[in-house]
Amino acid sequence: MNETAGGQIDTVMQEARVFPPPPEFSAQARIKSLEEYRAIYDRAKRDPESFWAEFAREELHWFEPFTKVLEWNEPYANWFVGGKTNVSYNCLDRHLETARRHKAALVWEGEPGDQRTLTYAQLHREVCRFANVLKELGVGAGDRVSIYMPMVPELAIAMLACARIGAVHSVIFAGFSAEAIADRNHDAEAKLQITADGGWRRGKVLPLKATVDEALEKSPTVQKCIVLRRVGNEVSMKEGRDYWWHELMDQASADCPAEPLDSEHPLFILYTSGSTGKPKGIRHTTAGYNLYVKKTFEWVFDYRDEDLFWCTADCGWITGHSYIVYGPLSAGASVMMYEGAPNWPAEDRFWRIIEQYGVNTLYTAPTAIRAFIKWGDEHVEKHDLSSLRLLGTVGEGINPEAWMWYHEKIGGGRCPIVDTWWQTETGGIMMSPLPGATPTKPGSCTKPLPGILPRIVDAHGNDVPVNQGGWLVIAHPWPGMLRGIWGDDERYVEQYWSQVPRCYLTGDNARIDEDGYYWIMGRIDDVINVSGHRLSTIEVESALVSHEAVAEAAAVGRPDEIKGQAIAVFVVLKDAEPSDELRNELRQHVRKEIGALAQPDDIRFTNALPKTRSGKIMRRLLRDIASGKETVGDTSTLEDYTVLAKLRGDEE
Ligand code: PRX
Repeated sequence: MNETAGGQIDTVMQEARVFPPPPEFSAQARIKSLEEYRAIYDRAKRDPESFWAEFAREELHWFEPFTKVLEWNEPYANWFVGGKTNVSYNCLDRHLETARRHKAALVWEGEPGDQRTLTYAQLHREVCRFANVLKELGVGAGDRVSIYMPMVPELAIAMLACARIGAVHSVIFAGFSAEAIADRNHDAEAKLQITADGGWRRGKVLPLKATVDEALEKSPTVQKCIVLRRVGNEVSMKEGRDYWWHELMDQASADCPAEPLDSEHPLFILYTSGSTGKPKGIRHTTAGYNLYVKKTFEWVFDYRDEDLFWCTADCGWITGHSYIVYGPLSAGASVMMYEGAPNWPAEDRFWRIIEQYGVNTLYTAPTAIRAFIKWGDEHVEKHDLSSLRLLGTVGEGINPEAWMWYHEKIGGGRCPIVDTWWQTETGGIMMSPLPGATPTKPGSCTKPLPGILPRIVDAHGNDVPVNQGGWLVIAHPWPGMLRGIWGDDERYVEQYWSQVPRCYLTGDNARIDEDGYYWIMGRIDDVINVSGHRLSTIEVESALVSHEAVAEAAAVGRPDEIKGQAIAVFVVLKDAEPSDELRNELRQHVRKEIGALAQPDDIRFTNALPKTRSGKIMRRLLRDIASGKETVGDTSTLEDYTVLAKLRGDEE
């Protein structure tokens, strides 16, 4: 793991600008000043358990109250022990007795421009009906349901219906390939698949059902498949296995009480990349996750009832789980949901949506912001964005220039920006400014949220001095934390809990500055971050090596203006001759094995890979070459890496 042992990382970034929260924003905010934040933070730090218990009692519905706040057998946490609750109840039923009953829960726009709004009462009804559909097909508490759908309201309905009956969903981003779906279905031993005929992306149809058909050939545990008609394309329906969503729903009753579930009942599995080839099924459970996403949503987005909140992520990622579905809906928010691409039919689609619907909070990714900058200010200037009051970012660090553009062009200089640091594993936001309280510095995720105790340590677990880079770890369990890796306790312990005693290892490097602000400095493992999405270099390498022409391959990330990191691969061929044709074929091959997001940007052929004496590929060297730091004559041929490796001292 540790090419860059904690404490050995120098920082080159110096950012002196500080933006205090606008006084008019603070005046109306939930948490109005840094002093107020500090008071809450200190209270939580002194006694995290009673801090969380108080919120849990007040803010979740309990069929049966919990008897113990936390049972901590490192590294296994049980939160709110003995309690029974239901996430779908907290997201829906709880609001039905209030003024939110007929408030918009989901405000949706499809890529072709179709629009739908579902109130809390309507969403509740649809979720109940679909929960009955699931039951009819034999799905019960604890069964795994695989969901591969476009960004349509039915995706949220499917997730909430699973939660209602205690089925465990595994949402797979609709850009993944059939192979990737099959791997995940196999690992989770999914019983049921939910999909759609297709989805819209840049005016074209994504043939989701066709991909699922291929995946189900290799998913023996999946017995049935529900298909939503979204685009109306031709699909094949397998008798006895495939059912149309609308036909099942026609018959389904809207009466389906939420199942009282144990606090630690699994809510979902979400697969993410680690430093080995096999994706990890991150396991989240019921009460702690629910409380954590609700509270962090309210704190970080300073949510208020009249807001329309828009998180542009896909529900296939953790951001969509926590801040499109579970966090906002438990808080009773109105959520904007959009199906398609930001540049369809033109590059102003997001700004058009904000203007037309009066969106108040926009939560998006730095990679999108960099694309907007490239597309030009004219697309922004066409629209009235004065409804916006708060902006957020997630997924990767934001470079100060992009931050400034976001602040000025989108926020009109008046909207605070919350740069939120967190991970699939953490369940919800861990570090972020509180928009009414924390002065922001472009590029810093500022400070930890109440109840979160980060540290920055060296390889021996000692705290490193101010402004020195080191490993970012979390020193105390929190309610939203992962409870494990699906079916792989050993890996859970090894990956997160074995390096630094009594701390959760995030896998990120960071430093803390003289004001106590945190600056994330990238990963310590072989994970690359492409457009805010995690990919492991080894997954890409395994995909390449599975091609008949390839003997060996190494993948590294290199800086990319828009995507943050691009994937560069170095390929050693068996006997085939290097050619552009083969290059294309390999690109397509990786696309087929993993999905479009893993398609390599650069493919370079080489005779050998630089290795250490023990046989480990020297990625650092390859990273330098891929990012153009090291020029070896004509880099397109890269004929002699072994010599290069020796020149560099053959170390590591
Ligand atoms: O490296 C950090 C980066 O994204 C990783 C987590 O990726 P994932 O589990 O896919 O979740 C992404 C959405 C929560 C982290 O380990 N990352 C995420 N947010 C930030 C970030 N890096 C810097 N600044 C952020 N705000």
